[in-house]
This record gives sequence, C-alpha cells and structure tokens, in this order.
Amino acid sequence: MSWREGIVYQVYPRSFQDSDGDGVGDLPGITARLDHLEWLGVDALWVSPFYPSPLADFGYDVSDYTDVDPMFGSLPDFDRLTAAAHARGLKVLVDLVACHTSIQHAWFRDHPEWYVWARGDRPPNNWTSAFGGPAWTRFDDERWYLHSFYPEQPDLDWRNPEVVAAMQEVVRFWVARGADGFRLDAIDRLAKDPQMRDDPPSEEPFGLPLLDHERGRDFRHSRNAAWIGEALGAIREAAGDALLIGEVYLPAHKHAPYLEHLDRAFVFELIQSPWEPGALRHAVAAGAAVEGRSGPGATWALSNHDFGRFSARFGRRNERAAALLLMTLPGTACIYQGDEIGQGIGPGGDPPYDRVGRDVFRHPMQWDRTPGGGFSVSRPWLPVVDPAARNVADQREDPGSLLSFWRELIALRKGLGPGFRMLDGDPGVIAYERGNVRVAINAGDAPVAVPDGEVVLATAPAAAALAPGDAALVKPA
Ligand code: GLC
Repeated sequence: MSWREGIVYQVYPRSFQDSDGDGVGDLPGITARLDHLEWLGVDALWVSPFYPSPLADFGYDVSDYTDVDPMFGSLPDFDRLTAAAHARGLKVLVDLVACHTSIQHAWFRDHPEWYVWARGDRPPNNWTSAFGGPAWTRFDDERWYLHSFYPEQPDLDWRNPEVVAAMQEVVRFWVARGADGFRLDAIDRLAKDPQMRDDPPSEEPFGLPLLDHERGRDFRHSRNAAWIGEALGAIREAAGDALLIGEVYLPAHKHAPYLEHLDRAFVFELIQSPWEPGALRHAVAAGAAVEGRSGPGATWALSNHDFGRFSARFGRRNERAAALLLMTLPGTACIYQGDEIGQGIGPGGDPPYDRVGRDVFRHPMQWDRTPGGGFSVSRPWLPVVDPAARNVADQREDPGSLLSFWRELIALRKGLGPGFRMLDGDPGVIAYERGNVRVAINAGDAPVAVPDGEVVLATAPAAAALAPGDAALVKPA
C-alpha cells in the first residue's frame, strides 16, 4: 500500500517535545522523538504551523510563510527534521494556511489590495467568522476587511493573480525543502462570491457545538464559490505530485469540486460523530463514497487540535473499537498525537488560553511518568495532565496497552487490500468489507455475534459475541 493511503500522524508542535527548556515544543524536539513514530509504524507526519506568528491563533496566523518562528527553531532545524524523517522512511506534510495571513504580515501593510475589502456604514453582507460574530471588521472610517476567523487573520483575495503567485512561491519553497505534501488549512474559505451576496439558509444539519452559530447556513457565497477550481489548480501546479489533503468543512458528498485537484479531504462527519451506530455508519458511508484525484478521496481522523479527543467524545469503553475503525477505512488515516496512549481532556480547572476553548485538547504529550511527562524540563505552556496514568514509555512495555493495540492495528493496515463495501446487518453494528477482511464494530447496546471466519484482531479476547463497544476484524472462511 502506498504511503498516500497509509497513516499520517499529526504533530501539534507546541505540545510534542520541548528541546530547549522554554516550556514550548519545537522542531528539534520533533526530530528527537521520530523514534516513536517509526516504532509505531506510521507513514508520515503532518506538522501543524511552526511559521513566524504573533500567535493570535497559535500559529494559524502566519506573518512569514517561508521561515520558522524562533520559538520553534530555525530553517536548518526544519531541514534536519525532514532529513531525519526521510532517513527513517517517514514523509513530511506541512500546513499551508492559504486563506488568510496574520494581520501583522508585511503583505497587509505593503499590499492591501491582496485582501478582501468593502466600503460603507455597515458590513456588506451576513457572512460570519468561524469563531462567532460578523466576518467583517472596520479598518478605518470607510473600509471593512474580511476575516473568516479571528480579526487578526484577514482573508487574502485569491481573485488577485499576485496573491496566487505569492502562495505558489510558498508551496514551491517547502517542496524544494523536502515537504512531501500539504494539509491545506480552511481551504473551503479560499473562494468567495465576487458579488458578496448573503449566505442563504440551509436545511442540512452539519457541525459541532463549537460552530453552533453556523448551523442552518448554506455557505455558498462566503465560501466554496464555483471558481474554487482555479485557485486549487494553481496550488496543484506549484505542488506537483505532493500529497494535498484539504480541510474542507463541508459534508463529504460536496467535496467533489475540491477533489478534482486535491488528493483527499477530511471527513468531518467522522470527527464530529458521537458513538452512535446511525451517525457512525453515515460518516463511514459518506466518506467512503468519495473519490479523489489519486484513489479514495477521504482522509479520516477521530481527533485533532480543533475538535477534541475522541476518547472523551466516544467514551473510554469504545476507544479500541474506534481505533480499529479508523485503521481499516479506505483513503488516508490520521492519528492525532497522544490519541495512541489515550490522552484525555484536561482537568476541568484548565485556564482557557485559547479564545475558543480548544486548549483542552492541546495538552503536552506524555512520554513518561515524570511530573513533566518527559515533555519539558521547565514549566510547560499547558499543564501535563496525567503522565502517571498514561504515558508512552510504560505503554510500550505493556503488550496489553492501548499503545500496543494501536501498533498492531497500524501493522495490520499495511496488509489490507483495496476495496471497500458496507454490509447490512444488525442496526447496532457498523459492518464492512475491506479488501479480503470483514470488520464489525458494535456501537449498539446489546451483544451481537462475531462474523464467521478467523478472528485476526479484536478488542476483547476471543468470545462468541461482541459486547457493546467491542470490534473485530475477521478473515471470512
Ligand atoms: C483551521 C485550523 C484551526 C484554525 C483555523 C484558522 O480550521 O485547524 O486551528 O484556527 O483553520 O486558520
């Protein structure tokens, strides 16, 4: 199986490994921990932003696209990370934040015409920011500027050929430095209606409570405008064959225009699904139906730095069954750092550093049972939660640990053949055929029979029935 359909491990650099004792993770820290990724058996790492940034959105507000923030290291540190990863057979994906820059980027000052503006007494339309409130902020007595996220993140105008050329340069820069692919941040916000019409209401429910204010809106004008292909084509042209995974915040059945140019898009139905058979089956079917430019179009994730830990959303009881699900789906599978040891959400008293409350899923990685979790020798930027309860070192030694289970699954994924088909059956079960094996996941509330055949891997010791929260992978007789 090509690495492109393998496993991408998401590193949130602030919280992975601190190498210089400032309490914040950095690129040399990632390099020092590559052994973990190789031991796990993943194919690639995606590194969330490490570029110079005023950190209004912890790095998703970039003030220089072709450098490394001193807090995270330097360009030579990136080169060393990439070389070390490649030497271990790991590919490297970087995060391309193409929709907006930091308001402190020199472009905003030197090329205001590269951004989206409106004039008048009031915002020109009903477009909203992902984090709440209008997407427009007053700049001076006459002008408003557009920001799909925080006001510190003005949106670029991709109708301007100079913007396209500048971002193509950025893509070429990282490809030349060894990047094997890109995760395209908020790429659904790239193309807006040039007439700036209001977004109409929508009947299709989609989205999590974090984005509650967005429910019931059809974002056909503030995002996803029909000319998106032109912008994506330019990114593809600069990226060559690099793997392009889009963060397209739309139901999977609407990803087609994106997948003409991108390899994959994240399936938000899964990352937002509760542990409920109907919702899970819908998520799997929706993502599996999508075709990309190079094979299956789905990238699957259970957690990330925005939407929280799946162990908290699904419940600990269902953790292993969920891992088995993730590792047997077609396309690319993404593991968020710490999920492999079951890092949970922080204790209730955590200070909400991030303005929309996402820090609870950005706690430092727990490498060992020391109070600092092996993450940092000084005070970590966020508290280390429960290193004695779960950490990499202890779980590596224990063949029955969650980490060991993930590792078995990861090895198993490499041997899965192509082909995917949902199977009918018990309403509490998500059942499908993947290559030459069958998977059954009991997300209902009653025991069900294990499918006939040889059980290759299961979440519980071989038994005649799968209890609620258990799953099995079976080779049919
Ligand atoms: C994406 C990122 C998120 C960020 C936003 C704005 O959704 O995953 O963390 O806040 O884009 O860049």
